[in-house]
Amino acid sequence: MHRPRLFVTRKLPPAVEARAARDYEAIFNTNDGLPAADEILKGAEGKDGLLVTVTDRVNADLIRALPESVRIIATFSVGYDHIDVAAAKARGIIVTNTPDVLTDATAEIAMLLMLGAARNATSSIAALRGGKWKNWAPTGMLGTELTGKRLGILGLGRIGRATAKRARAFGMAIHYHSRKRLPEELEEGAIYHESADDLFRVSDVLSIHCASTPETRGLINRRTIALLPEGAIIVNTARGDIVDDDALIEALASGRIGAAGLDVFNNEPNFHPGYLPLPNAFLLPHLGSATLETRNAMGFRALDNLDAFFAGSTPRDLVTA
Ligand code: DGY
Repeated sequence: MHRPRLFVTRKLPPAVEARAARDYEAIFNTNDGLPAADEILKGAEGKDGLLVTVTDRVNADLIRALPESVRIIATFSVGYDHIDVAAAKARGIIVTNTPDVLTDATAEIAMLLMLGAARNATSSIAALRGGKWKNWAPTGMLGTELTGKRLGILGLGRIGRATAKRARAFGMAIHYHSRKRLPEELEEGAIYHESADDLFRVSDVLSIHCASTPETRGLINRRTIALLPEGAIIVNTARGDIVDDDALIEALASGRIGAAGLDVFNNEPNFHPGYLPLPNAFLLPHLGSATLETRNAMGFRALDNLDAFFAGSTPRDLVTA
């Protein structure tokens, strides 16, 4: 029987590639180079589906140029801001993502960022590794505790709730803003704020968990940073473009914002160089989902969606514009 033909744009974990090779006539990216648009189009020739990742810019131009044979784009990610879903719909191509399976891993990274930012991890590690740690000092390398602080969660979706659960165990009080108030059983005592501005005013630590949309892009800017309590901490595991880098860098340099923990950036991997000299910026290279368990689960979930589609059913994780 004819197996569906698949182009896989990036190298995936071995177990995921093994399953894809078993069930699809698949072309893999063996050297894991980042395919440019023309390489994606070349790879798509004669294929029924594409398995892409957050590093592929699947914009309207690329989608319009895809061969007629391509009927599904499955992304190995929960976020799908790298795909023009409306353009795909216009071409009759369906798009799927991989929610749920990276929730815990990303919430763990949010906690790491909170702790790293609050406890001066960047400057302390630099002092230790640079041979500048002379002795234990009562006033040396002082950070701030998470215990007793108000955590503002911007977007109490799956990852926001998993982060809230962990933060409660640290003794933090949970506040949130989402487009809609959640049912009580999902709030678990979290205090709802009608507007993002109201949330910012009470956030000793602000953790960003909303999707990147036209409404949220640039939401953390000079005006909204000024609403946060003096010395607040900002954590971002969602998308870099929710933050105006110049505004955050300025606020970190002046101390208006005490520290930031960032796992995602505008223009990755060429992030704003202004973060690098800042001792109060704790930075990670987009590690939210980077565990083998989670990356396997993401790959299997993407394949489940492809399998369902080619078996004639509706994939579980259809995304819409
Ligand atoms: C996603 O899935 O959207 C993440 O950013 C990649 O881990």
